[in-house]
Amino acid sequence: MSAILGIIGRPIAHSISPVFQQAALDHLGIDATYQAWEVAPEGVGEFLRALRQPDKLGINVTVPHKETVIPFLDEVDEGAREAGAVNTIVHRDGQLTGYNTDSHGFLQALRDARDFRCEGRRVLVLGAGGAARGVVLALIREGVAELVIANRTLARGERLASIARERGIACRAIEMSWDELALAAVNAELIVNCTTVGMIHGPDSGRSLLLQQQIPPTALVYDLVYNPMETPLLRAAGRAGASTLGGIQMLVHQGAASFELWTGKPAPIPVMLEAATGAMAEAGSGH
Ligand SMILES: NC(=O)c1ccc[n+]([C@@H]2O[C@H](COP(=O)([O-])OP(=O)(O)OC[C@H]3O[C@@H](n4cnc5c(N)ncnc54)[C@H](OP(=O)(O)O)[C@@H]3O)[C@@H](O)[C@H]2O)c1
Repeated sequence: MSAILGIIGRPIAHSISPVFQQAALDHLGIDATYQAWEVAPEGVGEFLRALRQPDKLGINVTVPHKETVIPFLDEVDEGAREAGAVNTIVHRDGQLTGYNTDSHGFLQALRDARDFRCEGRRVLVLGAGGAARGVVLALIREGVAELVIANRTLARGERLASIARERGIACRAIEMSWDELALAAVNAELIVNCTTVGMIHGPDSGRSLLLQQQIPPTALVYDLVYNPMETPLLRAAGRAGASTLGGIQMLVHQGAASFELWTGKPAPIPVMLEAATGAMAEAGSGH
């Protein structure tokens, strides 16, 4: 019996997970297909009941269902509970377990692609939404020296900063003004964009939260946005002489961790990365 995997979200048509997950399954000769399902919030419960059928190995979960799925699961692992969000569900013998592989993907991409360790570093995080929460929790676990969180809605940034302070990390929240950002960026060794700014088709596409002259050439600038692969922030960082890392690496690493949970086999990461960048390049060329 051929096994079934996939991703649920809404909208889901532009997801490239089916491309790089199927490439990994085919590469290892695993008899399974990875599909994409557009599911409305009110349909999530029924979808997850059907996920308990024997041919289903599990799914990825994306916006807007990462929190919605939680009440329908039998178990939620500690990382997902802490993040308050599930991006991977594993089906074993009728039982559904929720995981969150985003933090792992974020850190693994830094290590793998840029050989960067976060311990003892000064970090500026742009944003305080779902992705920023996962990033901040990962940075706390890694033992960063100092954390600044800049968010458009200051109160949301303050809430995230207080989580870091409760865990012993020197952390403050700032407003997203040019002046505040410039001051915070000057000292940062790592700058991570966890906002939607710069995302293609979004209201802030073509925009960067930092200008070239605000980015220190010694910093590593990491943009979680992966569409386009070279965002306006990464372009500005490149012109400033800083190192850069795009979101596609994190996307692949979080997907690779999901793949390993479902199959129990090491994910062929270079194969997945090649398929993902190929799909993005094709999407960018309008095909
Ligand atoms: N590479 C990956 O694997 C990966 C994984 C997860 C997410 N992501 C990307 O990360 C981004 C954020 O996702 P999310 O799930 O965290 O979204 P979210 O929960 O909706 O959070 C959005 C964040 O963006 C900020 N923001 C939105 N518009 C802004 C603007 N005009 N100016 C300044 N800040 C603005 C929001 O600020 P307020 O709080 O003020 O609204 C909030 O901090 C998305 O582009 C997503 O694709 C990538």
